Amino acid sequence: MPADTVDLKSLIRTIPDYPKPGILFRDITTLLADPVGLRAAVDGLVWPFLSSGIDYVAGIEARGFILGGAVAHELGRGFVPIRKKGKLPSRTIGQDYSLEYGIDTIEIHADAIHHNARILLVDDLIATGGTAEAATELIRRSGGEIVAAAFVIDLPDLGGAARLAAKDVAVHTLVSFE
Ligand code: PRP
Ligand code: HPA
Repeated sequence: MPADTVDLKSLIRTIPDYPKPGILFRDITTLLADPVGLRAAVDGLVWPFLSSGIDYVAGIEARGFILGGAVAHELGRGFVPIRKKGKLPSRTIGQDYSLEYGIDTIEIHADAIHHNARILLVDDLIATGGTAEAATELIRRSGGEIVAAAFVIDLPDLGGAARLAAKDVAVHTLVSFE
């Protein structure tokens, strides 16, 4: 079935009060478990970039690994993991980013990306954009060029897509929850 005829939004489950009271958590596990939905989501992430000369797909831990791996496979390109601090075994470059309380760090292998490599960044969801902005910094500090960032879900009220656009990152999203 063509990607644009599948109602992806209806396959995403909303969990109230997770991980904290008042949060509506958009849960993609139901989409991932649906074979038609999964294919449509991956196809939807891929199609704008079929002729973009992507060298690598970079995915953000953890859900960006599932989708990014499938996107890389479909594009016929390699996959580069961006992980939470302390998980990658070789030499890394790290980037701090703000959470609601405190800071966290994501890392990439220092030799993962060759100079001027064209990168498509993939994650399941963009909320405040803090994680994707930190990933963008890592890609640029590694010498890569970020062609675009692609997400299944946009939460536009949290401003992440606008934040990335202000950093000259093209943003592609499939569904949004206002
Ligand atoms: C979620 C989501 C994105 C990020 C988006 O991951 O998968 O990576 O938050 O939020 P932001 O736009 O406000 O930065 P999370 O940090 O929950 O990590 P996990 O995938 O390891 O659970
Ligand atoms: N779902 C998944 N990850 C998230 C969400 C959400 O609703 N908000 C921030 N990160």
